[in-house]
Amino acid sequence: MKRLGAAAAAAALMWTVGAGCKGDDAAKPASDDAQAGAVTRAQAALKPLKQGLMKAVSEAMANGGPEAAIAVCRDEAPKIAAAASTGGVVVGRTSAKLRNPKNAPQAWLAPILAEYGEAAPDARPVHKVVTLGEGRFGYAEPIAVGDVCTKCHGTDIAPGIQAKLAELYPEDKATGYASGDLRGLFWAEVGPVTD
Ligand code: HEC
Repeated sequence: MKRLGAAAAAAALMWTVGAGCKGDDAAKPASDDAQAGAVTRAQAALKPLKQGLMKAVSEAMANGGPEAAIAVCRDEAPKIAAAASTGGVVVGRTSAKLRNPKNAPQAWLAPILAEYGEAAPDARPVHKVVTLGEGRFGYAEPIAVGDVCTKCHGTDIAPGIQAKLAELYPEDKATGYASGDLRGLFWAEVGPVTD
């Protein structure tokens, strides 16, 4: 099961990396009506990703505490993202301060990440849409840090959690956040409908 999940996640990643490169030259703010349909499809695909992540983390926190939840995050997050990536839409999460380097932003996301990073919390755009060429759209929306997130992404992380993070993510940069900070982005690449 795990191997299959990882393969699917890797395939999804490769697809997005390849597609991102092709569209880079054409990346510019989207303005036509097709954008509305892309936003609807992006948000519909992101919903199960958000819900699945929340469910996996809260169940793991309740059953085994935050240390167990870290492993669940690592194993389940890519699978949930791969499962939510259907119908010509690929979804994921990214950040300027990554825990897992596999969540690095595609080229089209980098300037959007920078723009959100510079915006004051109450001036963050609800979402951003760009065209990626060949009729595809890129969609992004901010992820804010909540109280529960600081257990694993905050400044005062319990020693047991710290140890687990150091073991699984030796290059972890995703700590030091306070509630309300921008943690990163949910993103979607919206292509032609495939099913
Ligand atoms: C139990 C610990 C834990 C909690 C609580 C937690 N996270 Fe994470 N977070 C992780 C782990 C572990 C990863 C790496 C997942 C992976 O390997 O894909 C991660 C990755 C992420 C990423 C992907 C980008 C990156 O740095 O790799 C985002 C965005 C994120 N978390 C946001 C949040 C938000 C927002 C909350 C609160 C709603 C939250 N996290 C709560 C452990 C946690």
